[in-house]
Amino acid sequence: MDKQTRLDTEQKIDRLLPRMIADRRHLHRHPELSFQEKETAGWIAARLAELGCSHIRTGVGGHGIIAEINGMEPGPVVVLRADIDALPIQEEKESEYRSAVPGVMHACGHDAHTSALLGIAAYYESLQGKFKGTRRLLFQPAEELTPGGALPMIQDGALDGADAVYGVHLWTPVPAGQIKVRGGAFMAGVDEFTIDIIGKGGHGGMPQDTADAIVAGSALVQALQTVVSRNVSPLDTAVLTIGSFQAGEASNIIAGHCRLKGTVRTFDPRVRERVKSRIAELVRSVCAGYGTEGRLDYRGGYPPVINNATEAERCRAAAIELFGADAVSESELITAGEDFAYYLERVPGCFLFVGAGNEELDAVYPHHHPKFDLDESSMRQSALLLIGCAERFAADWTA
Ligand code: NI
Repeated sequence: MDKQTRLDTEQKIDRLLPRMIADRRHLHRHPELSFQEKETAGWIAARLAELGCSHIRTGVGGHGIIAEINGMEPGPVVVLRADIDALPIQEEKESEYRSAVPGVMHACGHDAHTSALLGIAAYYESLQGKFKGTRRLLFQPAEELTPGGALPMIQDGALDGADAVYGVHLWTPVPAGQIKVRGGAFMAGVDEFTIDIIGKGGHGGMPQDTADAIVAGSALVQALQTVVSRNVSPLDTAVLTIGSFQAGEASNIIAGHCRLKGTVRTFDPRVRERVKSRIAELVRSVCAGYGTEGRLDYRGGYPPVINNATEAERCRAAAIELFGADAVSESELITAGEDFAYYLERVPGCFLFVGAGNEELDAVYPHHHPKFDLDESSMRQSALLLIGCAERFAADWTA
């Protein structure tokens, strides 16, 4: 972007920000859970029509929406994505835009992602075709709940002919005004598992006649701690957490059944496979060693978010151009997951964090907290950044 284009773009987004804030507050008042975003989708489609978008597809892979805005000059298809779903959380913060739905809340900022993407739609409509290629805007449902909304949208054509894909997560642990970029592995692959240990219950005073599922379960929890410490290279990263251990009823009865539940976080598909296979081996062998049977139900969730190195550098350059070098820094690895991973498995692209924390606004709570809120001005940075990445890609593009 030359300087004049950048200033014009900033001015346009500044003018659009109040509407983005109003949109965000509307969505915040009316949250819907993953896979149930019917009203939200209807509202987004109506807003897009209001903005003059004529190429809208609704019902994409569920409640997804695709809006395409075409430039007059030939160029690439650049995909920009926002997620639209909320969480099963009772909001605890008082505000004029507080959730009107008991037990449901936009506690991750997806309301702001959606509103910023609507701002981007308004921006491209205002250009009246004076840009290269196509901007395809994805409003994706069900990011918060596996198997997620990304795959069904992809299966329904969301990436057909796409040349690049970019997305942003507003992030309150990072102060508003700051941008975080990372090439390569960025966010974790998230898997979950349940282990049932079947032993033989009996009298607490006569253990010789039983197969104690609690003793086998305790040994297994200990053994599983060695997967990360002994089977994963010290140069790689993984987390294995047992978050639930349920067994037994009374002090004088030996439990015949024990159930463990846990989660695995990894950043590398090879590490992910290694951890999964070691869990399976230990469940089988440890349980057998205690005369019990272990049954593993391992459920693969979102793969790790792996940013294309070239695209990450392009986005970093776009961010520095827009906000200055002091505002842009390298992100650490994030052990949360994101179904944006599925887009990145198929098309070169980058997922970025835009700071949204602000103590003065009490936007200090982590994502998924009942008092979560964000600095709404971060939608300005978010919209500018996605436009900046798309325009840089289009400028560098050759057919
Ligand atoms: Ni989120």
